[in-house]
Amino acid sequence: MTPNRSRSPAADRNREPILAVLQRLLPPQAGVLEIASGTGQHAAHFGAAMPGWDWQPTDADAGALPDIDAWCAGLPNVRPALALDVLSMPWPATRRCDAVFCANMLHISPWPTCAALVQGAASVLAPSGLLVTYGPYLQDGVATSPGNLAFDASLRQRNAAWGIRRVEDVSVEAVRAGLQLQETVAMPANNLMLVFARTG
Ligand SMILES: C[S@@+](CC[C@H](N)C(=O)[O-])C[C@H]1O[C@@H](n2cnc3c(N)ncnc32)[C@H](O)[C@@H]1O
Repeated sequence: MTPNRSRSPAADRNREPILAVLQRLLPPQAGVLEIASGTGQHAAHFGAAMPGWDWQPTDADAGALPDIDAWCAGLPNVRPALALDVLSMPWPATRRCDAVFCANMLHISPWPTCAALVQGAASVLAPSGLLVTYGPYLQDGVATSPGNLAFDASLRQRNAAWGIRRVEDVSVEAVRAGLQLQETVAMPANNLMLVFARTG
């Protein structure tokens, strides 16, 4: 284990609620491709909780991969982390992919990563597979929390191409890729999980 590996306090807080939703959505045996694994805490937590999930962590930042592997050390069902930038098509081939999971990337990357994520997911998912995203979103007709409004402003100040995305805009990109929004799950701290399945 790397003593100085990076740690996200938010991932410590949200890992259990996210796991509960994934356990409801996915069977005990499933292949999962994780996009934007970050520290690797989610991969480690979900992999340990569900030994039947064959978990493939990835991140665009090659420098993050050693920490992801350190977090997941000793978990035989979590594969060594791969470099995967959603904007670089085609995505590397993975084994059977029952789900693509992506937390907290869409608001902290330029908008084109949204189309890339849904198109990439559509290209690798099994016929009944799911794309599951987690993070803060704006929703038409739903008041945005003061916390998310401030977060959105701070994101855009850091990088004008970043910002909290509208569920409706993400959904349009998903439809273009052959996926449809199947479920929206309210999560703690004004976050959402979006579940997309193949159209038709
Ligand atoms: C805020 S972190 C989220 C990490 C983790 N999923 C979590 O929820 O704690 C955002 C991550 O998105 C990754 N990322 C940004 N742009 C990306 C892209 N184009 N393709 C894949 N990952 C990307 C970053 O490298 C970073 O690890």
